[in-house]
Amino acid sequence: MAISIDPTGLTAGASDSGTLDPTRMPRHIAFIMDGNGRWAKQRGMPRVEGHRAGAKTVRMVAEECRRLGIKYVTLYAFSSENWNRPEHEVGALMGLFHRYLNAELDRLCDNGIRLRAIGDRNRLPSYVVESLERAEERSRGHSGMQLILAVSYGGRDELVTAARRLGERVARGELYPQDITEEMFASSLFTHDIPDPDLLVRTSSEFRISNFLLWQLAYAEIVVSGALWPEFSAENLRECIYLYQQRERRFGLTSEQLAEAEERDE
Ligand code: FPP
Repeated sequence: MAISIDPTGLTAGASDSGTLDPTRMPRHIAFIMDGNGRWAKQRGMPRVEGHRAGAKTVRMVAEECRRLGIKYVTLYAFSSENWNRPEHEVGALMGLFHRYLNAELDRLCDNGIRLRAIGDRNRLPSYVVESLERAEERSRGHSGMQLILAVSYGGRDELVTAARRLGERVARGELYPQDITEEMFASSLFTHDIPDPDLLVRTSSEFRISNFLLWQLAYAEIVVSGALWPEFSAENLRECIYLYQQRERRFGLTSEQLAEAEERDE
């Protein structure tokens, strides 16, 4: 008998995703928004149309996460490797970020969302940096949810940058190498004041981290959705959170130790 295994877990068991446990919502969800190109190709459209359609999913995901009470959402919008894509695609994406930031800012603020960006801004065109800074400045006071755009972002690049910063402090005699702790390292990252993601969602059935938040995803639960990013729906989002809630997060402990700790806390 052929056994069909769905490694995503999304075809079986997630049908009662209407009943999310409000006490076990992830605080931070990170998304790898994959499948825009394939979505466009399936429809005989240029890849850029897939990115345009993907921008609508960005709006839906931001607003739905806010409604669900998620406090931090990080979107992998453009990786350091994406600079190697064809020039016209890179240009179209930069234009899309610029338009999104200008068109959505009022709506983000009305929803109590603070926008931030992480990544290497030096490589971005000035008009994108300006719209990012304007959005960060105007939304700074909002505390309903933080929407973090990873643009021109690479996990290895972030780690090297942090190592350099600490190395410079050692060279200046402010710090001994043996005094460097995990906390100190974490506070040298772009995400120094953002808690690590609890859940990583990647769309389009791909099982890769792709140089995203390499340090911060150490204990994240990973859910892979079969949906391509432009077709990823509010229901798909709920399914991903539902699957997250079925997982036991052990952080290196045993199930028994976790149960004992829960009993102690009650
Ligand atoms: C990966 O899909 C997606 C990207 C490299 C770009 C993501 C950008 C958006 C969703 C546009 C809107 C974003 C914001 C923040 C307004 P892919 O092109 O690699 O898809 P493929 O694997 O099917 O080719």
